[in-house]
Amino acid sequence: MKDLDVKGKRVFVRVDFNVPLSDGRVMDDSKILAALPTLRYLVEADARVIVASHLGRPKGKIVSSLRMDPVARRLSELLGQKVEKIDSVAGEEVEARVQQLTPGSILLLENVRFDPGEEENDPAFAASLARLADIFVNDAFGTVHRAHASNTGIAAYMPAVAGMLMEREMSYLNRSKENPARPLVAILGGRKVADKIGVIRHFLEQVDSLLLGGAMANTFLKAQGYSVGKSLYEEDKVEVAAELLQEALGKSAKIVLPEDVMVVEDLIAHAPFRVVKVSEIPAGWMAVDLGPNTVKRFEAIIQEAKMVLWNGPLGAYEFPPFNRSTEQIARALAEAEAETIVGGGDIMAALERIGLAHKMTHLSTGGGAVLDFWEGKPLPGLEAIDHDPNNRYSTDSSE
Ligand code: 3PG
Repeated sequence: MKDLDVKGKRVFVRVDFNVPLSDGRVMDDSKILAALPTLRYLVEADARVIVASHLGRPKGKIVSSLRMDPVARRLSELLGQKVEKIDSVAGEEVEARVQQLTPGSILLLENVRFDPGEEENDPAFAASLARLADIFVNDAFGTVHRAHASNTGIAAYMPAVAGMLMEREMSYLNRSKENPARPLVAILGGRKVADKIGVIRHFLEQVDSLLLGGAMANTFLKAQGYSVGKSLYEEDKVEVAAELLQEALGKSAKIVLPEDVMVVEDLIAHAPFRVVKVSEIPAGWMAVDLGPNTVKRFEAIIQEAKMVLWNGPLGAYEFPPFNRSTEQIARALAEAEAETIVGGGDIMAALERIGLAHKMTHLSTGGGAVLDFWEGKPLPGLEAIDHDPNNRYSTDSSE
């Protein structure tokens, strides 16, 4: 972005302001904070800034609870500058409003996913967004794995560059892949093996230890022949979990599964719990968090590591005290000497809550985007960016 002259230009900035809302308020503003450097830079450089994001999954329809107004209010507070918000995404009214923008001012568009053309990457919708601007800045790392109109389609019409957040995210993630410090440890949690098969396979080739927690670990325990009681697991993924365990035998990466777990009869906050070995999960009980011996084992591996990558909570962290292992492992990362690269909204929220977010080397704003990156899938949002925008187009709007 800094390679372009943006003074007086209309700059369309795609951000990922997909933030949790409650009662019309932003509950976690980390993603907004992460985009501030790019927005501040453009404001100070006297660009006329048009900001666009998706919020939730309205599936091409207007959903009142997913309007961008609370985001505009929070963005105004954080920037210390009035951010105007318009109730449409594109069209004549928006074009007219953009024409009135003065250098250094910001207009936030309505939720881009209210238009069905966004997720379809409809060229007509992309063209209507493109009419609003002279330069496209993609700072939405969280949606870099999506091929949507506002993050890829629009890029065909004008110089398209990465924003500062995108650049920062990619530089840390590239490091984690291209030349990682070793021992390299990956920690994966969350509910579903289904979402993570590709990334597990990638890690088996790349890392020294792969630590598994969350409900997805139950599917692996089942594959090892343990009875998991009424724990959440994916029946149709037991076979693939067994294959992955088998594949790991021939690799340098070691898969580390829980050896003990906290179990409850009913998953509610503060449910009475027991700690049992994974071989002793009683029928009618479910594993909801890692046990203390597993946490100790994970901590020991983290202490030895030079780089740790983490995605996905390790227990049913929305139901305290079954957030315990996620928080203990977060503390272990905060104290570790290793570089720590952490992605995903759940862990980000957990780290913010316990005040350790700033202790991570890099806290990524992307969840699915990070997994797709680690898995080696194409990232359309990045592919659409020009590597040398000055060569493709002149940014002089008089031409
Ligand atoms: C996220 O929250 O991971 C990003 O905003 C992407 O959202 P999506 O999965 O709805 O595309």
